[in-house]
Amino acid sequence: MSTPRLMKAAFITETGPPSKIRYGDLPVPEPAPDELIVRTGAVSVNPIDTYIRGGLIAMPLNNPFVLGCDFAGTVAAVGSEVGDFRPGDRVWGANQSLSGRPGSFSEHITVPADFAYPTPENVTDQEAAAIALVGITAQLGLDRAGLKPDDIVFVSGGAGGVGSMVIQLAKAAGATVIASAGSESRRQLCTRLGADVAIDRHQENLAAALEKHAPDGIDIYWETSRQPDFESSVASLRQNGRLVLMAGREARPVFPVGPFYVKNCSLFGFAMFNFSAAEQRACANDLNEQLKTGNLKANVGKTFSLAETAEAHALQEANTLNQAGTLHGKIVLTP
Ligand SMILES: NC(=O)c1ccc[n+]([C@@H]2O[C@H](COP(=O)([O-])OP(=O)(O)OC[C@H]3O[C@@H](n4cnc5c(N)ncnc54)[C@H](OP(=O)(O)O)[C@@H]3O)[C@@H](O)[C@H]2O)c1
Repeated sequence: MSTPRLMKAAFITETGPPSKIRYGDLPVPEPAPDELIVRTGAVSVNPIDTYIRGGLIAMPLNNPFVLGCDFAGTVAAVGSEVGDFRPGDRVWGANQSLSGRPGSFSEHITVPADFAYPTPENVTDQEAAAIALVGITAQLGLDRAGLKPDDIVFVSGGAGGVGSMVIQLAKAAGATVIASAGSESRRQLCTRLGADVAIDRHQENLAAALEKHAPDGIDIYWETSRQPDFESSVASLRQNGRLVLMAGREARPVFPVGPFYVKNCSLFGFAMFNFSAAEQRACANDLNEQLKTGNLKANVGKTFSLAETAEAHALQEANTLNQAGTLHGKIVLTP
């Protein structure tokens, strides 16, 4: 029997705090007929990675469980049924570690060909990994909310992973964009990303600021906070306004029904991983077009090596769950 080739990977054998993450050797995987083997050039952290690692989302996990959804890299091998990709092609994607698939935080990964997208020539692996899950999420949500060029879009957490994508994609579509952020430096980042107005939510009353900058109301109100305040968001909506929810599994806020329905408003909640491979690919194609034209840029806040995955998870968790305010964009790691 031949000795398996080994690669470095960041994995857990039980859920728990970031200290449970191990960095060590695992066998290099073989592709199934419909899969690619991708040599990763970069991966990025999303809040869901920390929820899975911490056991906050109950799901069956392989043991060892390789962490991470997002990746970008180069195809090293293809399964017998794969026609669209060849070794040497650069690809990115966002759906690893979900639905029983191994995660992306290793030197080589198996990726279903349906969930791999070509990386534009002008985009680095670090940039592609940084836009992967958050970009698809923003594109899905704006499509489903029926974004129109004359819309006024508000996004909370505009300096965050999803928020920074919503700002840029809404701007590229011609909308007016208002964003909120939790500090002056994060507020300035929203402006650099293209927001027409950026509000420091600790310095200004958000509802009053929205009334000042959008006196007729908001068309699409995108909430990234895990603790939504519906009194405020519903009051800010315009006639036919759309409220997008995609965070806060534990949130159970009071909902002001009257002010909502009398304005013909609608509420749209979603989780990107519920969408089919074809639906996500359509979003990835749109994102690639925006990346090629330079309308969409990655918002990389911090880089680590793959060996530092535990530190990267701790930083993401401190910011998403505990609002540390120490992260200005995506965390990207390189093997
Ligand atoms: N449903 C889906 O498909 C999907 C996909 C991706 C992510 N998510 C979820 O969406 C959320 C955002 O993801 P992300 O990757 O953008 O995370 P992130 O980079 O950590 O951004 C979260 C943002 O929330 C803002 N925030 C924190 N507390 C707030 C509060 N009390 N009020 C208003 N804003 C607050 C922060 O901005 P400031 O402090 O600067 O205001 C931060 O930028 C996470 O909970 C994630 O799990 C869901």
